[in-house]
Amino acid sequence: MKIDVEKSLIWTATGAFVFFSVGAVLTTVVPPIVDKTLWTSEYAVHEYTEQELRGIEIYKNEGCVYCHTQQIRQLDSDRRRYGWRLVQAPESESWEYVNDKQHFLGTKRTGPDLARVGGKYSSEWHYAHFKNPRDMGEKFPDRKGLYEKASIMPSFAYLSDEEIRDLTAYIQTLGRNKNWRVDEDGTPLNDYEE
Ligand code: HEC
Repeated sequence: MKIDVEKSLIWTATGAFVFFSVGAVLTTVVPPIVDKTLWTSEYAVHEYTEQELRGIEIYKNEGCVYCHTQQIRQLDSDRRRYGWRLVQAPESESWEYVNDKQHFLGTKRTGPDLARVGGKYSSEWHYAHFKNPRDMGEKFPDRKGLYEKASIMPSFAYLSDEEIRDLTAYIQTLGRNKNWRVDEDGTPLNDYEE
């Protein structure tokens, strides 16, 4: 008996399910089998302190992920954009995230990627930036309230000082599992701030 596949609901549904399952298996079941670095690391990975864990909660609750990603892609433009002192930022690799219980890789870059921001600024800078981002950058007072080159991020001044300290402690850990920030004389600057 000839089956008219196109008109059969059962065949269409079964076909769609099979195709969907192939995709699901290839993207969820297969990667951990072939790539062990998804949950173990042969390199040292920073263990979060209590304070940094509180910072992660704040990062999550404040929705930083809506504007910021945390992944340096394998693109020249990403490496250059998030590099430092002409050193290109190394791309993100799965082992760097093994101690993260929640991931903030994100998809929307309203603001810059934060995967390598740890150590870029001092903790005082972050404090001032969260309190009033417009303070960070150059202002042109003669332009009557218009700012130029100042950070356009929304203010998080409503967070308590302690919350900002916790959040900053977490931000300072980002991307520092790869020891890539070096001083002018080549000394690695991978000291986590207290
Ligand atoms: C509405 C979007 C938005 C949200 C939400 C947001 N940011 Fe931002 N953020 C930005 C933008 C845009 C910039 C770039 C500002 C500029 O330089 O003009 C920025 C810049 C930054 C920078 C400096 C990055 C660099 O390399 O210079 C840090 C750090 C940062 N944000 C952290 C956070 C954290 C932590 C949160 C959550 C508490 C957060 N942001 C929430 C939009 C956002």
